Amino acid sequence: MEEVKLSIFGFGNVGRATARVLLEKGEVFKKKYGLTFKVVSVSDRSATVWLPEGIDLREVLNVKETLGKLSSWTNDYEVYDFTPEEAVKEIEADIVVDVTNDKNAWAWHMEALRRGEAVVTSNKPPLAFHYAELMGEARKQGAPYLFEATVMAGTPIIGLLKETLLGDSIESIRAVLNGTTTYILTRMEEGASFDEALKEAQNLGIAERDPSGDILGIDAGYKATILHCLAFGPITFEEIEVKGIDGVSEEDVERAKRAGKTLRLVASVEEGAVSVEPTEVPRGDPLAVSSTQNATVIRTDLLGELVIRGAGAGLKETASGVVSDIIKAALELRGE
Ligand code: HSE
Repeated sequence: MEEVKLSIFGFGNVGRATARVLLEKGEVFKKKYGLTFKVVSVSDRSATVWLPEGIDLREVLNVKETLGKLSSWTNDYEVYDFTPEEAVKEIEADIVVDVTNDKNAWAWHMEALRRGEAVVTSNKPPLAFHYAELMGEARKQGAPYLFEATVMAGTPIIGLLKETLLGDSIESIRAVLNGTTTYILTRMEEGASFDEALKEAQNLGIAERDPSGDILGIDAGYKATILHCLAFGPITFEEIEVKGIDGVSEEDVERAKRAGKTLRLVASVEEGAVSVEPTEVPRGDPLAVSSTQNATVIRTDLLGELVIRGAGAGLKETASGVVSDIIKAALELRGE
């Protein structure tokens, strides 16, 4: 039986949802893939808990949920105040899992790759700013660098572009990639105010810790940048055009509604050109999604138009993408 060592960075909603899936589906993964996952470290903003023999996930979830932070843990486990970079250097792992919002995480992703360790991430800025360096290092080291959960949560848009449409030339991509803004615009159509709708999105756990990233289109911009990197080659967030929904008024929403349309924050990706802006979408359009759904319309030379639609946010929905990548990385490390 293969035992795969995981080092988990980030123990907020997505980190805990990932731990829960690993805990609850451990037997399924053992039977289906012959893989056993041993979590050797878990880090939150306060501390790193490190136990080379493997951490009891039930216990670490319980501590985080009752005490609020890992630094409060005082039993036989070793608790350290490493920076993420120090933790990567100290802790021996097969797969480094980044479920943080650390904007500077690319530096410790690079360190993990240099050490030959796989990286699985749901954290977008490293890719939106440093895609070329990260993929270059991953290739050089022969180490998997996987990021399915960065765009459309577990809905497999990354795998589709990276591993499936290999003979097609992508002509364009149009997409709705941010659940919070769709949720707010949907609720505004139903008569709620912007602020009420934002509060609801925060309560549902779909908005970022700082929701301005969602509202200003930055989150959708990161995701559109990542799609461009896959479809057309490297580009960075600094090179794209982003307009959020902060300027959208109740009148704008009403006007679209009267015209049989709906306002959505639409990303448009063509070779060398990425933009994100509020756009009126006809009711029957594949991009007229509601609630936390995302949709992407990919146009290729061979296939014509392809639509992929599904959950774009949510805890277990994001954990779906993270865990899928953890299994993929483990299989790749095993040579499959
Ligand atoms: N805040 C994001 C959204 C979560 O609203 O879509 C997933 O990246």
